[in-house]
Amino acid sequence: MITDLAQLAYVAASSLFVISLHWMNNPKTARKSVRAGVAAMLLAVVATWIQPGIIHHVWIVLAILAGFIVGVPLSRVPLTAVPQRTALSHAFGGLAAGLVGTAKFYLWLSEGAAQLTPFRTSAIILEVILGFLTFTGSLMAAGKLQEIKWIPQRPVTYPLQNVSNIGLMVVAVALGILVVVNPAGPGAAIAFPVIIGLALAFGVLLIIPIGGADMPTVISILNSYAGLSAVAMGFVLDNKLLIIAGALDGSSGLILSIIMCRAMNRSFVNVLFGAFGQVQASKAGADGRRYKQETIEGASQIMEQASLVVIIPGYGMAVAQAQHRVRELYDQLTKRGITVKFAIHPVAGRMPGHMNVLLAEADIPYSDQVPMDDINSEMPHCDVALVIGANDVVNPAARTDKSTPIYGMPIIDADKARTVFAIKRSKNPGFAGIDNELYFSDRTFMLFGDAKAVVGDLVKQLSGNSGMH
Ligand code: TAP
Repeated sequence: MITDLAQLAYVAASSLFVISLHWMNNPKTARKSVRAGVAAMLLAVVATWIQPGIIHHVWIVLAILAGFIVGVPLSRVPLTAVPQRTALSHAFGGLAAGLVGTAKFYLWLSEGAAQLTPFRTSAIILEVILGFLTFTGSLMAAGKLQEIKWIPQRPVTYPLQNVSNIGLMVVAVALGILVVVNPAGPGAAIAFPVIIGLALAFGVLLIIPIGGADMPTVISILNSYAGLSAVAMGFVLDNKLLIIAGALDGSSGLILSIIMCRAMNRSFVNVLFGAFGQVQASKAGADGRRYKQETIEGASQIMEQASLVVIIPGYGMAVAQAQHRVRELYDQLTKRGITVKFAIHPVAGRMPGHMNVLLAEADIPYSDQVPMDDINSEMPHCDVALVIGANDVVNPAARTDKSTPIYGMPIIDADKARTVFAIKRSKNPGFAGIDNELYFSDRTFMLFGDAKAVVGDLVKQLSGNSGMH
């Protein structure tokens, strides 16, 4: 009876997970989506807990408490740290899958080799390899993004790197086959822990040749590995909910990585093996060209006379937490009858949807947040393009300069606007580490300073001006 009830709850939880993902498609239903996801997870945990096979309730309570102790502070990180926070979640997921697979292997081994059928053992091997490599790979990715001192940001490469990495994986798979063929044999007793060691090492080696700029994409790929290890765990534990949830997780991670790769005009192979981010530092700022600057007064006067202002936000707006000041600027301009639109590049910031989330936080209407492809046709009619802490996503070098790492990446055509104002703190380059042609253009004027402070000054100037009318 209880088992039937649990199976029914699993079906309900699986459906809720699917509905939750569907609701994620639209900002209007996103909150509902989160609630549905939480409800599904709660249902899944309770349905598992009430099963008669559970013998250690105290351990479960302790594990839940440990989860809360780690999870609550993790949920409070700033939005800019969400990619590394997500990587940590994948690391925990991978570790859990790896440990469950290991525990099941030794449990079944102690119950007699007949328990370890080829199907079960294959699923365990897959689960353990994917789980442990996701664990160390995600920890490394989180460390790189968090700029932890002893993990180098730049790609670390050495001769025959890809060959030796692939060789390592081939050895792990070969040892896995050995275990599947004779799980209780003396060979398997040595091979199983070696496979764990190789998977842990592979996770580290997979990440070190990848530069910080590609980490968000890699985190998405690791997301799909974590999902696949959960699918394998579902087969090991004969748990359909895990299979479904793991497949949803795995495919959404894969789809997200494909979207990111497309938005950067890169391929999977290039992200994983391209050592992107290696050569740029020396390129930037190499020549002494001069930027033109504008005062707050001058910039607000030009903006006041515009009919269409396009605001292009980037990572710097997120760092400065300038979204509420940007909303005030939007109010000041729109109340003068000026049309204000936001140009959203798919990889602006450090995660997909980063800009939309920030602007939504400041209640900027979704109808004014225009995707890159749609806004670009309007850029030649735009009077003022206001770039706020964006760099790579407006760099025209992406169209023309084959030697830059962002060559081929679609950009927002800020350079086609009549006047461009660009807010940033210094002459430093963006994420890809290269100079930005846009900033040296005749039409561009820099407003140097922290995004929140500069936009705040623009708002003050404009509200002062309106007071004078
Ligand atoms: P970036 O190219 O990283 O440029 C951000 C700019 O903001 C910098 O030039 C920086 O200049 C400025 N900045 C930083 N803090 C600031 C502050 N407090 N106030 C004002 N300005 C500040 O950003 P982007 O244009 O958004 O491009 C995103 C990059 O990330 C792309 O290269 C993209 O490929 C990469 N990426 C994104 C994703 C996703 S999914 N979003 C995934 C993978 C890779 P200063 O230091 O001079 O202030």
